[in-house]
Amino acid sequence: MEKHIVTLPGDGIGPEIMQSAEAVLKAVGEKFSHQFTTESHAIGGNAIDQFNDPLPEQTIEACEAADAILLGAVGGPKWAGGQLRPEQGLLKIRKHFNLFANLRPVTIFNSLESSSPLKQSIVHGSDLMIVRELTSGLYFGQPSERRDGGQSVVDTLTYTRGEIERIVRKAFDTASVRRKHLTSVDKANVLESSRMWREIVNEISTEYPDVTVEHELVDAAAMKLITNPSYFDVIVTENLFGDILSDEASVITGSLGVLPSASINDKGLGLFEPIHGSAPDIANENKANPIGMILSAAMMLRYSFGMNEESAAIEKAVEEVLAAGYKTSDLNIENGTNLTTTEMTEKIISSL
Ligand code: NAD
Ligand code: IPM
Ligand code: MN
Repeated sequence: MEKHIVTLPGDGIGPEIMQSAEAVLKAVGEKFSHQFTTESHAIGGNAIDQFNDPLPEQTIEACEAADAILLGAVGGPKWAGGQLRPEQGLLKIRKHFNLFANLRPVTIFNSLESSSPLKQSIVHGSDLMIVRELTSGLYFGQPSERRDGGQSVVDTLTYTRGEIERIVRKAFDTASVRRKHLTSVDKANVLESSRMWREIVNEISTEYPDVTVEHELVDAAAMKLITNPSYFDVIVTENLFGDILSDEASVITGSLGVLPSASINDKGLGLFEPIHGSAPDIANENKANPIGMILSAAMMLRYSFGMNEESAAIEKAVEEVLAAGYKTSDLNIENGTNLTTTEMTEKIISSL
């Protein structure tokens, strides 16, 4: 197969881990006789520097012509105080392509069970999927502004029925092909938006009689996620709750650096990115863990190109390398061998 991928390396460790993903894709292409062409474009802080725009028009046009999009990470202290912010580029691309469903699988590799700060007995067997709504809620509601000469501020949380229905359906579909257990996370004891969310989940649940559904308040869910992670199968939740819970869930797996994600729309286009950020504290040191990015490329092969075998080959290679005790410095594998980003990437490629 021939596939055209637009890569958006972004800022901080973004370009370093994108090189890793590209190298792995090249190796997969050779092994399975596919031709992956890649074309790199600017987003985030580097796009502000070059084009005075966190999401330049030429980046959007290139993405429109792509079979899939891979993204590293955006942001950093350099742009923190400015009028233009790198993160606006990320929000805009998600909105532009209507990438409303953000799938964040949280799977623990056997060899990382002792790497988690949580007890091994707690993390053992964890395998959950966070289905995060990505193009609405508090991130996009208007108005969002300072008022009264800076004496007050407003952010707005809005959802339409349609926006909730489509993400809830996606979550039920996801649960249907997994362990058929869906937990909808909200704050219905306080927020009207959560009460509507709950109603819609209950309505749609009648279409999925074989899926067990329950509602949890987000504060209690946050607690349960790290005290009893293997309780969960699929979690569906609104944009901000999903953002926070997914970073929390990364603790189960030993590091934020290993978790991938897929953001998809209803037209089959996907953007794939690790859940972590640009890690400015370790940028340009060849220290970043490339696994979240590499597994995001694996998700791309599965979700966008239907290449299940190829995707599984990458996941298996990662598993093998970790099992052999190779690690990056964010991972706490006992007696492990510490590798740089490029060394880790090479190990994964030779294991393919
Ligand atoms: P972060 O995720 O960048 O980093 C949090 C901590 O995790 C840091 O100590 C970092 O070194 C570590 N870390 C993250 N990824 C790692 C990896 N692959 N390997 C090893 N260690 C890793 O979060 P932050 O520091 O709060 O945010 C930094 C910038 O990234 C901000 O500008 C933020 O807006 C942005 N951000 C972007 C995205 C994205 O592009 N999708 C996601 C989250 C944060
Ligand atoms: C993520 C990030 C983004 C989000 C930021 C950088 C806008 O934290 O992808 O998880 O909050 O969605
Ligand atoms: Mn986040």
